[in-house]
Amino acid sequence: MINRFFIKFKINFFFKKQSVKEVVSNYYKSNNFLYYSYGRACLFHVLKKELCKERNEVITSPLTLPAIIETIKLAGAKIKYVDIDINTGLPNFTELKSKINSKTNSILITHLYSDKKKLKQISSLKNKFKKINIIEDLAINFGIKNSKNKFTSLNADYSFFSFNFMKNFHTILGGALYIKNKKKLKDLRLKQLNFIDFDIITIIKTLLKCSIIKIFSNKFFFYAFLFYLIKNIEIKNIKFFKKFIYPGFYAGKLNKKIFYFKINNLGKIFFPRNKNEISEDLNKRKKKSLLYFKNLHENNNLILFKPDNIESINLEYLIIVKNDFKKLYKFLLDRNIYLRQHWYKNNSEKMKNSNFLSQNSLLLPTHQNINETNVIYISKVINKFYETL
Ligand SMILES: Cc1ncc(COP(=O)(O)O)c(C=O)c1O
Repeated sequence: MINRFFIKFKINFFFKKQSVKEVVSNYYKSNNFLYYSYGRACLFHVLKKELCKERNEVITSPLTLPAIIETIKLAGAKIKYVDIDINTGLPNFTELKSKINSKTNSILITHLYSDKKKLKQISSLKNKFKKINIIEDLAINFGIKNSKNKFTSLNADYSFFSFNFMKNFHTILGGALYIKNKKKLKDLRLKQLNFIDFDIITIIKTLLKCSIIKIFSNKFFFYAFLFYLIKNIEIKNIKFFKKFIYPGFYAGKLNKKIFYFKINNLGKIFFPRNKNEISEDLNKRKKKSLLYFKNLHENNNLILFKPDNIESINLEYLIIVKNDFKKLYKFLLDRNIYLRQHWYKNNSEKMKNSNFLSQNSLLLPTHQNINETNVIYISKVINKFYETL
């Protein structure tokens, strides 16, 4: 039986080992980081600093978490949407350029399966539009870096990660912001002095949620109980219960307090691995993605991207299903394979590629409970479905 859920963390007993701050700085060989309660809090703080009356527009693609869209609005920006280019996983470049005007403050790029070559084209916009900030949402991509220890070929003004418990490297709750410019870093650091250190209610709630997922992703509970429940919820599309299996898609009103507390002390307790362990984990994930690619790329009903050509840590391996998505999903569930059916939400109905992606993306697991035999089995079942159609 295959379960998409998997939560792993190591505890730094007695706070003896490195804290998250040291691990991140060491890994990226940079001290230009600030730490926050959430990934979205990083974005909020950047926008609060950068937005002004004359330039208050943020250009972005609508395929992301609703919480990110709400964060942009809460910071006071007007959003201009650009549809995703399915072939690159990035905003359509021509459309993006056409949306830039004198009111544009920032361009927010959400890294999903970003095409490495196209990223250079986007960063070149900075040469022409010097005042516009490029912000990258690397929430799901902690660990990514090129040979020069930079995060991505986009090399943006601001980049942020999320360390919430669904990420492979996490502090249960938290986020990190990279700020390229030293002066801006200093400014933001000063502003952060007023933030509170600890919000006990948020932390308790988060620890509770994390423990529930941890318990239920345990093989025994999952086999015995949860799988059959989830199968019904997914197949019958029961909205009320879907909130529990895709909580990020049903975010209610944002609690403003979360934007004003720093990374909590959980960052000293939970941050699993050192530099080498991070690289090792990413290599293993990439190997699994390459294996999925090898086994599935000849299937004409799917769109796949070569893991070498995309900027992604392969938290999961994305395949885009051109035909019969729902039937395929049920076929997989009937064979005890439970995958993530929805990746991100399309937050603007007008954007047709984002809509297509939100409904036809299948995320193949690469976590530590998945081995090569599982990868081959999942691929085989997918191929078999199309043979038997
Ligand atoms: C693409 C993306 N952006 C932003 C976030 C928000 O991160 P956080 O929950 O730490 O605010 C997430 C979290 O899952 C994400 O996947």
